[in-house]
Amino acid sequence: MKQKEFGDFQTPDELAREVVELVSQTLHSPDIVVEPTCGKGSFLGASHDKWGDHSKYFGFEINDTYLDFCTKRFLGIDIITLEKQDFFSFDWDLFFKEFLSKKILIIGNPPWVTNSTQGVIGGKNLPVKSNFQGHKGFDAKTGKANFDIAEWIIIKLMESVAGFKGYLAFLCKTATARKVLIHFWKKGANIGQSKLYLIDAKKFFNVSVDACLFLVEFSGDRRDKSALVYSSMKHDKKMLYRFGMQKGQLISNLDDYEKYKYLDGFSSYTWRSGIKHDASKVMELYREKGRFINGFGETVDIENTFVYPLLKSSDIGNNRLIPRKYVIVTQQFVGEDTNYISELAPKTWNYLRKYSSELARRKSSIYKNRPQYSMFGVGRYSFSKWKVAVSGLYKNTLFVVVPPFDGKPTMVDDTCYFIPCGSEQEARYWAKVLNSDDNQRFLKSLIFFDSKRPVTVDILKRINMAELSRRHGEFELARNYLELAGSIEGRQPSLVFEQREKYRKNRT
Ligand SMILES: C[S@@+](CC[C@H](N)C(=O)[O-])C[C@H]1O[C@@H](n2cnc3c(N)ncnc32)[C@H](O)[C@@H]1O
Repeated sequence: MKQKEFGDFQTPDELAREVVELVSQTLHSPDIVVEPTCGKGSFLGASHDKWGDHSKYFGFEINDTYLDFCTKRFLGIDIITLEKQDFFSFDWDLFFKEFLSKKILIIGNPPWVTNSTQGVIGGKNLPVKSNFQGHKGFDAKTGKANFDIAEWIIIKLMESVAGFKGYLAFLCKTATARKVLIHFWKKGANIGQSKLYLIDAKKFFNVSVDACLFLVEFSGDRRDKSALVYSSMKHDKKMLYRFGMQKGQLISNLDDYEKYKYLDGFSSYTWRSGIKHDASKVMELYREKGRFINGFGETVDIENTFVYPLLKSSDIGNNRLIPRKYVIVTQQFVGEDTNYISELAPKTWNYLRKYSSELARRKSSIYKNRPQYSMFGVGRYSFSKWKVAVSGLYKNTLFVVVPPFDGKPTMVDDTCYFIPCGSEQEARYWAKVLNSDDNQRFLKSLIFFDSKRPVTVDILKRINMAELSRRHGEFELARNYLELAGSIEGRQPSLVFEQREKYRKNRT
């Protein structure tokens, strides 16, 4: 059996015992303990050690070797039932039906794998017929949606025991637990108390993900849609924060949000994302001994006209503001005809032609039926000389002033967000107030840093920049900036823009 396809990370007995100990403080003696993908049975073992004859135990597993292992491990203990089952074809509703009046504990560690990984490895360990989160018949298989198999498994189990008594206690990614909760909160389902206890996944499973023990009561009478997050499962654990839904919005720290929600509004500036081209080897260059070199290590002899300094997410996130790279920017706005490059900069045109098949091969549909050598995320705003930028990928929300370099506006890549500014003074002002303690805490109350891209435009555009400046003085100055914010994008025509206009006029 392939470890990747089956998301196979066996839980060390020591960790399973810790989980059972913690669960027993909430659910004193379950009647039924179920481990749906039991592997070597660490949770069955730890539960049996804890509750002995008070409970009945069921373990299911797809892998024969693990099942044999469990059969030997629990030999002679007839209150432990083991069965070979494929989670996805097993009738869980029917199985739980006979335990309606019992106290149930569903415990374990579901497979750690996403459907897209399955797609990549050609795995078939997926549910067949379903309409999960609107992805019909598992678009999963076609790679249209990316989600954790664990998410599907937990939701399936929770739906099978809706209205029953008991708890689910699963090890999973914190993002998975959150998505499960959002699913039920959005549906208005009656789930009970939910808690996440952070675990060290590197130590126990040698994987670098934010993971937790997710403990959730099947049913409850709770109006608030919130969950508590604890620092660990240990005695000295601390409650770190509560997250949840408020007025249909997901909030990562409800208590901080309450304190800083005066900053929740909208911004007069439009937050933009940086340049996207999906061809870094061709479009990104670095300088060596005065020459441009591309990602293939070749010297690139082209005009300077379309080459701009570039800062990437790692530069912005680490406040490293001297560009080490350059990018060829072929357009002034999305969809612009690129043919004029041939006349304005023939060497650049020849260079692009040389790599035309490379550029035409770009997979994303955004390049289909577009002028050749098209880019994305480009607009007049990209050419503003001063910007305030933040990385979308980092576990911080550091706003940095991006100055021009060598007399040209500096571009940022598509993993960063920025606002274009009309002057250095304006950029420095906004960087200062955006980095202020209250704004940082407000943002942190909205951001889930375990996400792949924690900082999003949807979050940034909620910052009420007017209110922020009111609280930080210099409001008059800020008001000026805010009034002009919408027009900044047109205030700084770039050199290429002017040249292009001239070229157009000459042609007509
Ligand atoms: C993360 S491991 C955890 C195993 C065990 N629960 C533990 O905690 O040690 C996931 C387990 O799910 C099993 N598994 C994967 N796909 C399955 C499926 N479709 N049906 C049943 N079990 C499956 C794997 O063989 C593996 O033992």
